[in-house]
Amino acid sequence: MVKQNSCIFISGNGTNLKALIKNSKDYKFPINICLIITNNKNAKGLNLAKLYNIPFNIFDLGKLRDQQKALTELKKRKITLICLAGYMKILSKDFIKKFNGKIINIHPSLLPKFKGLNTFSKAIQAKEKFTGCTVHFVNEKLDSGRIILRKKVLLQPNENKESLKLKVQKEEYKAYSKAIIKIYN
Ligand code: GRF
Repeated sequence: MVKQNSCIFISGNGTNLKALIKNSKDYKFPINICLIITNNKNAKGLNLAKLYNIPFNIFDLGKLRDQQKALTELKKRKITLICLAGYMKILSKDFIKKFNGKIINIHPSLLPKFKGLNTFSKAIQAKEKFTGCTVHFVNEKLDSGRIILRKKVLLQPNENKESLKLKVQKEEYKAYSKAIIKIYN
């Protein structure tokens, strides 16, 4: 099986990145992780890049010069899939166009519900019975691209933001890899 070369974009802890790295070691998993890009030089997830010897770059994609550098890196490494995993910046329309249909994201709610930030408090406040996570293609509108896969979690009556985050993220680690398998199968 020929694996796709992928790049993971992160801004923070990188726990989704960790799950993807682990799964990518399986010869049947459709992607190799060839590059990590972050906007945040202090992102904890960069420790994983060092630990697993994955090349990484710190770029401010809001700046044209950095965007150009990122495009060069992505091209050099023949990247065919970009996975946003806790990447907290909005990509420019131009960048998205260049990778049309090749950027995916994981979002901590059952889209189309609760786009944007603070999804756990929003779900609790709305007294939802279920929430969860969604893996979707990225288009020009925030959290609005075609849905690849969703995973549900049940909200308990005493649920708080922290407990919910733990539950949802546990599902995310499985959902992201399942979605990638789904894309290439
Ligand atoms: C995840 O909850 C993801 O859904 C959201 O940002 C969080 C990233 O967490 N987009 P991590 O950096 O993977 O730990």
